[in-house]
Amino acid sequence: MKAVVLAAGLGTRFKSEKPKVLHEILGKPMVWYILNTLKKAGLQDIALVVGHKAEEVKEAVGDSVKYFYQENPKGGTADAVLASVDFWRTYEDYILIVNGDSPLVSAETIKNMQRFIHLVEEYEKVKLGGVILTAWLQDPTGYGRIVKEEGTDRILRIVEEKDATPQERNIKEVNGGLYVFYAPYLLEALFKINPSEKTGELYLTEAVSYLVEKGCEIRSFMASDPTEVLGVNTRWELAFAENIMKLKIIRFWAERGVTVHCPETVWIEPDVELAREVEIFQGAMLKGKTKVEEGAVIGPGAILENVYVGKGAMVEAYSYVSDSRIGEGAVIGPFARVREKSIIGSGSHVGNFVEVKKSSLGREVKAKHLSYIGDAQVGDGANIGAGAVTANYDGKEKHQTVIEEKAFVGSNSLLVAPVRIGKLSYVAGGSVITKDIPDGALAVERAKLRILEGKGKEKLT
Ligand code: UD1
Ligand code: MG
Repeated sequence: MKAVVLAAGLGTRFKSEKPKVLHEILGKPMVWYILNTLKKAGLQDIALVVGHKAEEVKEAVGDSVKYFYQENPKGGTADAVLASVDFWRTYEDYILIVNGDSPLVSAETIKNMQRFIHLVEEYEKVKLGGVILTAWLQDPTGYGRIVKEEGTDRILRIVEEKDATPQERNIKEVNGGLYVFYAPYLLEALFKINPSEKTGELYLTEAVSYLVEKGCEIRSFMASDPTEVLGVNTRWELAFAENIMKLKIIRFWAERGVTVHCPETVWIEPDVELAREVEIFQGAMLKGKTKVEEGAVIGPGAILENVYVGKGAMVEAYSYVSDSRIGEGAVIGPFARVREKSIIGSGSHVGNFVEVKKSSLGREVKAKHLSYIGDAQVGDGANIGAGAVTANYDGKEKHQTVIEEKAFVGSNSLLVAPVRIGKLSYVAGGSVITKDIPDGALAVERAKLRILEGKGKEKLT
């Protein structure tokens, strides 16, 4: 089945410079969700109708869809479908039309609508003109209302709120903005739609009454979960949709064996992958292409962006890890920062207020407190004391530091790169290291300690 997604509108109610469909839900543009859902439902041939700020939309969406351009973004939803007519003019099958501002529709619902059409055809011997996704909403404000033939699910027409009579406004079944029409019938109907008297727009919903008058049967298909039909017309509806999507994603993982504490506070983006027995605490954010392996724990307020977290690793409270790999059983944080393609080996510990940038730490490395490790390679079993810093920048360029296996870098020492600290060598606390230290050596760079008896008390009293 071909699909047409409408994304040309002005989105006036959003009060935004950015096209409405590019506003983000969990780090992805709103329109990404419906396109992804269509693909998941097995629809490959997709047209996207663009108009308002078309170039921005095209750039964000990429080339997985065919683009059609609506000249007049105030033309209305029927005008938008007409803009795509070259995509389906000779198509003799059902075509799916969906609003680009309906991010919550599920692939299951789309598949069920397709099955429904086939079942009606097979068992009732009725060829439907179309099926429309509807939902029953306690508060239907803003949506087109579904007017049906009493006691059936045959739709007679859809009336937009602006045109509805007070009785029609009381109808709680709404148009979900997703339609499956028999393309040749739709083609005929679209050319017959008159502009709305109130707005001058051509409403796609008007195709329904035209087709019914011609003797076609249009049925409703009610969404099992009414939130699926949510249309995002305002920023508040965007916030609402984001919340619903967030909980859907968390529920998906919970059902696959992930524990999420305080789910309403946790943020998991759609491309994240989680294994069984992962445990996530309140306020954590898992972004981009993050993957977390079995038994790993993500502590409260931790942020992970494009991170691989190995089995049983722990990212403790309020740590921020980006574009990096955390090995099996490693412990990050609390309050650690790991970034820019860093690799933390298995069993290593990057602790409180430690920053690791573009560095690779081997296995069982300890850097537990207050340290900066930048552009460095740290060998297995090395120990980096509290306050140790790699001075990687000379004001012009970045330089490398190499700390070999089992080296001991004492507290508050400064390693001025480029520099190499040899295997099993020992840097005494507080030293400034500007030369390579051979394997097994002790390096001390300190002014002589002077102790003046009684002088302290003299100053203080
Ligand atoms: C529309 C439906 C309404 C339904 C609701 C569900 C019509 C006339 N009304 O109302 O019955 O309950 O969706 O969410 O269709 N668009 C274009 N070109 C245009 C106008 C709009 O491409 O000229 C696109 C928009 O970018 C948007 C979609 O069509 O993605 C729907 O338009 P919108 O203005 O949001 O329609 P609603 O008022 O929400
Ligand atoms: Mg809308």
